[in-house]
Amino acid sequence: MTVTIYIPGDSGALALGADKVAKAIELEVVSRGIDARIVRNGSRGLYWLEPMVEVATDTGRVAYGPVSAKDVSSLFDAGLVDGGQHKLSLGNPEEIPFLAKQTRLTFARCGIIDPVSLDDYEAHGGLTGLRNAVKMAPADIVKQVTDSGLRGRGGAGFPTGIKWKTVLDTAAEQKYIVCNADEGDSATFADRMIMEGDPFVLIEGMAIAGLATGATKGYVYLRSEYPHAIAVMNKAVRVARSAGVLGKSVLGASQGFDIEIRSGAGAYVCGEETSLLNSLEGKRGVVRAKPPLPAIQGLFGKPTVINNVISLASVPVVMDKGADYYRDFGMGRSRGTIPIQIAGNVRHGGLFEVAFGLSLGEIIDEIGGGTATGRPVKAVQVGGPLGAYFPRALFDTPFDYEEFAKRDGLIGHAGITVFDDSADMLKMARFAMEFCAIESCGKCTPCRIGSTRGVETLDKVAQGIEPEKNLALVSDLCNTMKFGSLCALGGFTPYPVVSALTHFPEDFRPVPVAQAAE
Ligand SMILES: Cc1cc2nc3c(=O)[nH]c(=O)nc-3n(C[C@H](O)[C@H](O)[C@H](O)COP(=O)(O)O)c2cc1C
Ligand code: SF4
Repeated sequence: MTVTIYIPGDSGALALGADKVAKAIELEVVSRGIDARIVRNGSRGLYWLEPMVEVATDTGRVAYGPVSAKDVSSLFDAGLVDGGQHKLSLGNPEEIPFLAKQTRLTFARCGIIDPVSLDDYEAHGGLTGLRNAVKMAPADIVKQVTDSGLRGRGGAGFPTGIKWKTVLDTAAEQKYIVCNADEGDSATFADRMIMEGDPFVLIEGMAIAGLATGATKGYVYLRSEYPHAIAVMNKAVRVARSAGVLGKSVLGASQGFDIEIRSGAGAYVCGEETSLLNSLEGKRGVVRAKPPLPAIQGLFGKPTVINNVISLASVPVVMDKGADYYRDFGMGRSRGTIPIQIAGNVRHGGLFEVAFGLSLGEIIDEIGGGTATGRPVKAVQVGGPLGAYFPRALFDTPFDYEEFAKRDGLIGHAGITVFDDSADMLKMARFAMEFCAIESCGKCTPCRIGSTRGVETLDKVAQGIEPEKNLALVSDLCNTMKFGSLCALGGFTPYPVVSALTHFPEDFRPVPVAQAAE
């Protein structure tokens, strides 16, 4: 009987040596005359265990990890093909607590299927949502997405159904679906993981968006730093086209839909939707003033849905299992599940999809296992480089858009960076201003000039030059940037700066000269 061995082929696993492991496994299979099929699956998102090799046995999958090429021979000696015991044995991967505690709706197939096999995708429930959508009127599809409570996972948390309704209601000869796969936030990798591990779920979500709004063309704006994701997405689009999922007719529907993958050159601000549209049109990535909203005048001046990868990839499960099913997960106005990405100085870094509502403390201490260095957690930054720093005193905050806003924070794309007690929060505040100065598109003064003045002023504080006066200046500057900037790059940079100042004031006090010289 042919045995199936799964070796992740996603960027995270590749960075940890998965290709070398695959090569070594291929050699063992040949030299031992084993009848084996090797599948390069996506990652399950337990990155401290990657490369995590799995084998399909009569009693289910058995995992081993983290595997290096030098372990492979002994793994075969131990009977890997039958799930034999080895020092790297992890047992049934579904029972590893990090996975067992998750609710995988969007990432249900990631790490399980062959990413570019449409048959495998369908065998695991794929395309059911799209088949349902094909039979529905556009307004009914929009209603189902609206009723599910799905909000944009790119950062702003805007209700997806309302955005789609605006595009549906705006008459035009041509409309577009643009998928924002720029994924510029620190600590985030959910978009990359799903594009590499289950690309058809994004294609399906975009096709549903096309049917819902009357858009016949879709673009995925994918950062050039993700060459592997670009390759997987291009291959999956070709497969979907030849299977009639994309093309002149979507699965026999009267409407067609096709997708093109475009690579972005790597500017953080090109993740901002209007700047992204300029970049997609071949122009400089400068932010556009709103109105007009992209939903009314977007790409090439046409009504355009712009959604994040995870927003679109969450639509198939809504169309498959229903709005109520999805809506039943979560808390308050944050419905469904959220793929939390845990990174930085943390023991168990990875992707954890769960219903909204888990507290920050549970995520960091119980799921993440505290810091990798073993030192106490000092702060966590949630929501990328524009997100606030949370001290342990705020670890009871539930993961929910409104609860985070109440505490002057944001969820953003749900990336969390963990810092231990060696972090210097003055340096982190300076970094936020410097990041803004480097990435600013330059269109408005508070951001373009304010961020540079912010760096200079924080440098003065660090040097002990009139600290009180300069800290007051930093607060004033943050106020101007927050309320005077055109987009969230300048408008949210004050979040990490002010939160560092508020929660860690001791790091902003000048170091006495004698102590500094030690
Ligand atoms: C500076 C800046 C960078 C952004 N980067 C991203 C990004 O990388 N990916 C993303 O999906 N949204 C990003 N956004 C948010 C987008 O502007 C927009 O809100 C999002 O694509 C809408 O999709 P959603 O409703 O599905 O979240 C960024 C916003 C700003 C201000
Ligand atoms: S806030 Fe910064 S990035 Fe945004 S429009 Fe103004 S200058 Fe450009």
